[in-house]
Amino acid sequence: MRFLITAGPTREMLDPVRFLSNRSTGKMGYALAYAAVVAGHEVRLISGPVSLAAPAAVKVSDVVSAADVLNSVQDNLQWCDVLIMAAAVADWRPASVSAVKLKKSNMSGTLELERTPDILKSVAKYKGGRFFVGFAAETGDPLPEASRKLKEKGLDMIVANDVSQSDAGFAVDTNRVTVLFANGDYDNLPLMSKVEVAKMIVEKIENKMEK
Ligand code: PMT
Repeated sequence: MRFLITAGPTREMLDPVRFLSNRSTGKMGYALAYAAVVAGHEVRLISGPVSLAAPAAVKVSDVVSAADVLNSVQDNLQWCDVLIMAAAVADWRPASVSAVKLKKSNMSGTLELERTPDILKSVAKYKGGRFFVGFAAETGDPLPEASRKLKEKGLDMIVANDVSQSDAGFAVDTNRVTVLFANGDYDNLPLMSKVEVAKMIVEKIENKMEK
């Protein structure tokens, strides 16, 4: 099957020097790309700014902002059978971007933000028979919010992780996830490497797509 995977953070520019971003390193998304390749699938990876190398077989599209991720997902959606949104896409960006470095003297100390496009919501109408997988990054019990996002974004599966844990979520090599399915089934996976988590996610997608 053809997997379209997003990974890494986005950067929302304030001026040519400064941006809003987050702690994503891309490890989870790149592990998913690796696991899908190892399982024999074609993979396209949409990657925010990270310091990782993708497997040679993977076609990588480098992006920076949430708007770039949306454009790249839209450009590749028709090609794919499976979309996995592992990227930590910003929900907010500066309402205005300065073409020159802002001077302290003309900054008020208050930053006006605006919403970024909700990518999964934007492409939901083009889902068709594709399998859509989201992630939910929460602090504390991730399940209520993950369940809400699963339904609200019209997903087939969502991977919930509590990013406040020191051994899960951003930057670490391990993750502790719960996989929730649209039919209400769920699977609590124990702490394991992100590569093992990725392999299990790919297997679960394969099993669901074969039915
Ligand atoms: O990259 P690592 O360092 O390995 O860290 C891994 C991770 C913590 C980034 C990863 O496991 C993870 O949780 N990724 C999703 C982070 C995120 O943005 O979660 P969210 O709950 O804020 O977003 C919910 C879903 O909507 C996600 O699939 C997200 O890609 C998507 N989204 C978010 C914002 C937006 N504007 N459009 C979207 O489609």
